[in-house]
Amino acid sequence: MNSHPNYALITGASKGLGYMLAQSLARRGYHLIMVSLPGENLEQKAREIQAETNIDARYYECDLTQKKELERLVFWVKQNFSLQILINNAGMGCTKAFDELTVDQTDQILSLNIRSVVLLTHALLPLLQKQKQAYVLNISSLAAFLPMPYKSVYPASKSFIYSFSRGLYAELKGSNVFVGVVHPGGMVTNPEVSQRIRKADGITKATILSVEHTAEICIRRLLKQHPMIIPGLMNKLVWLITRIVPDGWILAYLRKDMKMADGKTFFAARETIGKDVVDEENAGP
Ligand SMILES: NC(=O)c1ccc[n+]([C@@H]2O[C@H](COP(=O)([O-])OP(=O)(O)OC[C@H]3O[C@@H](n4cnc5c(N)ncnc54)[C@H](OP(=O)(O)O)[C@@H]3O)[C@@H](O)[C@H]2O)c1
Repeated sequence: MNSHPNYALITGASKGLGYMLAQSLARRGYHLIMVSLPGENLEQKAREIQAETNIDARYYECDLTQKKELERLVFWVKQNFSLQILINNAGMGCTKAFDELTVDQTDQILSLNIRSVVLLTHALLPLLQKQKQAYVLNISSLAAFLPMPYKSVYPASKSFIYSFSRGLYAELKGSNVFVGVVHPGGMVTNPEVSQRIRKADGITKATILSVEHTAEICIRRLLKQHPMIIPGLMNKLVWLITRIVPDGWILAYLRKDMKMADGKTFFAARETIGKDVVDEENAGP
């Protein structure tokens, strides 16, 4: 093993898609830097992957919505690692009427889904450029192509990721840094998503793929340098529909679908964001 002397950094690697992406890279022999919020057993997850695959799995706990914490992460990575892959996976959403969202909730979504991706990519690009071949993968969503009532901020943030990734891909084309973007459909990962998928019908249910399968597709296609990845046939079909069918029809359908999914629980699990402090001493095994 250990055929790759360099590291892959994955944000949001404690669970869900991020954890599966980490596993998929470890199976291919990449060393890992796993990043997520404090207090979610990240050390244990890193140890498990390390034991299973014999790669070096480091971890770093921080809140990526906090600029200072993000800067400390960047400093630690620059000091200690040669980086070959950056996967901007951490993201959050909320299904709620826009006028019921608080300013803080909206700000968290924008800070994590947009600002942290741009700042981290910008700060780590020089490190990636030192490699013979390096990769950036940004996790967008099929929602990037579907403006959604009752979820208006999240899809808009993912449209930003789509546009940012495609622009950067073109800018760096021909260089040693490849930039890809992935648009997953539904995956049963966190409780908010599970609840929404259970309540939804139609498009949302039809696009569901397992998180393991999605992660495998992401890594395989990233390493083959596919610039835009849409996992699953149904998701490709939905994407095609969004290109052909008028916006108004899609919005009328989604208004019904999303209203049924309107949930109010998600932010209860996020109350600690911003209160946690980075402990650089603990970062690493
Ligand atoms: N699930 C879906 O159906 C779906 C569909 C399309 C696209 N996506 C996208 O796929 C990505 C992963 O989604 P998921 O469902 O796997 O998410 P998830 O299960 O909720 O996991 C999110 C990860 O991000 C981390 N995270 C959240 N806030 C953070 C912060 N402020 N700072 C640092 N880390 C933070 C979490 O850390 P903790 O564990 O420490 O909280 C966790 O590791 C997201 O970008 C999402 O938008 C998901």
